[in-house]
Amino acid sequence: MTRTINTSRAVLAATLAALAALPLAGCRGERTDANPRRFFPDMDKQQRWDPQESTGFYADGRVARPTPEHAVAFASSDFDIAQHADADWARGYMAERAAMLKADDAVYTGKTVESDGFESFVDTIPVAVTREMIEHGRNEYNIYCVACHGYLGDGQGMVGVRWSYPPANLTSELYRDRANRQGKDGYLFDVIRNGLWNAEGGNRMPGYGHALNEMDAWAVVAYIRTLQKARGSSWEDLTPEQQQRLGRPTPAPDASQASAQPATEGGES
Ligand code: HEC
Repeated sequence: MTRTINTSRAVLAATLAALAALPLAGCRGERTDANPRRFFPDMDKQQRWDPQESTGFYADGRVARPTPEHAVAFASSDFDIAQHADADWARGYMAERAAMLKADDAVYTGKTVESDGFESFVDTIPVAVTREMIEHGRNEYNIYCVACHGYLGDGQGMVGVRWSYPPANLTSELYRDRANRQGKDGYLFDVIRNGLWNAEGGNRMPGYGHALNEMDAWAVVAYIRTLQKARGSSWEDLTPEQQQRLGRPTPAPDASQASAQPATEGGES
């Protein structure tokens, strides 16, 4: 009795397995020119005309439509949007157009071609630096760079101290002094967008061109300059207004005095 049950179960299982495998086998390598089945055709198929085709739809029988009267073709030869660059309405278009053309090497590659024909990195950021931009740069820096280069730019980030190469200290003289290749704004821009590679093609620092567009990258450069300023500046570097606002720094108490007085910080009470 039990035996027959087992046998029929086995037969059933084998049949089911064969059925399950059937669709896999059936579709292998099969090709067809027939249209795929469309269960929800939606807008897959629509009426369209080819260029220069004739149509009964318009009275003149032409598919190509003439420009409506008084319309001005955008970027046509006798309309120069650059002449309206200061107008509020034009600013968005200008930015959009510049981003599409990417014609300004200094802005889009950080490089210029010198009179001798050699390419070199631009000394200073070729776009206007605003407070807003620096703040944007801080935001991006704190997302993409901080892990390795640290909040202070000194290369002591959490990941940085464990990275296979020690990350650069961005506040060091090498990156401050524009007389150095590595101190030029265009160079910093290039590193941000493209990363660093060694001669064998090994990656020393990842590039962030996928996440930081050109304007983002310039903003990060501006913020690196701010970090450098913040670290290496003295009282004398401040403008008189800034000095007034901050008040004279009190000289640090000398050690003997400090130890003579009871520490108030962190005490009980
Ligand atoms: C994953 C870690 C890591 C991240 C994230 C990172 N860097 Fe670096 N960076 C490095 C390392 C490592 C070096 C040093 C490479 C070397 O000397 O071979 C370096 C070097 C640099 C240098 C010096 C280049 C040179 O030629 O001396 C600059 C400038 C720099 N990074 C900027 C940035 C900026 C800005 C960001 C954020 C957009 C960033 N890095 C993100 C690891 C990182």
